[in-house]
Amino acid sequence: MHRLEWAKFSTETAGFRGYDGAEATSRRSAAPMSDAPPLTDQQVLERIKNHQLIESIEHMSPAYLEGIKRILTVSADTELISAPAYYNPARAAPSLNPFGSALAIIQDELGHAHIAYRLMRDLGVDIDALIYDRDPAKFKYPYAFDVPLTTWVELVMANAFYDRAGFVLLSDVFGSSTFGPWKRALVKVDKEETFHLRHGENWMRKLSQTTEGRREIQRAIDWMFLLTVEWFGLPDDKKRHTEQLGFGFKGKSNDELRQIWMSTAVPLCESLNYSVPAHFDQATERYVLDVPFPLAFDAENKRWLIDEGEITWDAVLGRWKARGPMNQQYVDTIQRGHKELKSLLAAA
Ligand SMILES: [Fe+2]
Ligand SMILES: [Fe+2]
Repeated sequence: MHRLEWAKFSTETAGFRGYDGAEATSRRSAAPMSDAPPLTDQQVLERIKNHQLIESIEHMSPAYLEGIKRILTVSADTELISAPAYYNPARAAPSLNPFGSALAIIQDELGHAHIAYRLMRDLGVDIDALIYDRDPAKFKYPYAFDVPLTTWVELVMANAFYDRAGFVLLSDVFGSSTFGPWKRALVKVDKEETFHLRHGENWMRKLSQTTEGRREIQRAIDWMFLLTVEWFGLPDDKKRHTEQLGFGFKGKSNDELRQIWMSTAVPLCESLNYSVPAHFDQATERYVLDVPFPLAFDAENKRWLIDEGEITWDAVLGRWKARGPMNQQYVDTIQRGHKELKSLLAAA
């Protein structure tokens, strides 16, 4: 078999046994997938009410399919883009061992992206087009990743904050999702995300032993904390895709997930005597921010424009939609090899 054909064959048949690959492959070959999901919303909700998971497109309604594709795209894009975002600061690792740990984390993230894109392929999505032909601005990952991570300290703070956000979101999906193949795959993903955030915590403790380390960590907290608070999306009263809760794609609301993230991120920073723009309010038993929110962000200087006061969520949506400084470069990194191979094959 020609090498390229063999590579394609291997990818199609052998690489995805981790979650449900063999079953998904045989199901696909035994019964070609129909284009449109056949059930009504009512039938899907009935199935969910009977505690039966949604296993394939045959168990979906058009709205369920649309919703699960949307949440899978966000998850897959976030995992994928974290690889180039983490690779730059990984190269600033203080020695070979931490560099190896950072590469292991990047490899995990690529595996997580692989799982989510593979599930979308089973739902009829053209994954090659989605990954390699999509306009960079159309990728759907949190804005935080568009701001460059340049130092080892920023990488470990990303582990402590961003991977924690990923862990909170995916733990909720794991606990609540009605989509069986994803739910099962997340057992492995959750364990790996725990390793990533512990990596961040351990390095925070280690780097906090020097004045210079403490100064750099505080500087990273100052711009990264609120970007992670934003990560959880619009506040509940402004949220548009309400079917995510109705169909059980996730269990908790954006604001609840934001609270869960703060309930461990804030004590972590406080335990090491760093200042964070949030505290636990005894009266309401909730974490509250100490600065106006949402705020305008100066991405070039990694600085929140607190003096300008609270802005509207529409303005935040505008910034997210326009994407930030690294969007083009990270997506180019991901798409470059595929485009080069395509032009080589075309010329052959
Ligand atoms: Fe991940
Ligand atoms: Fe991670």
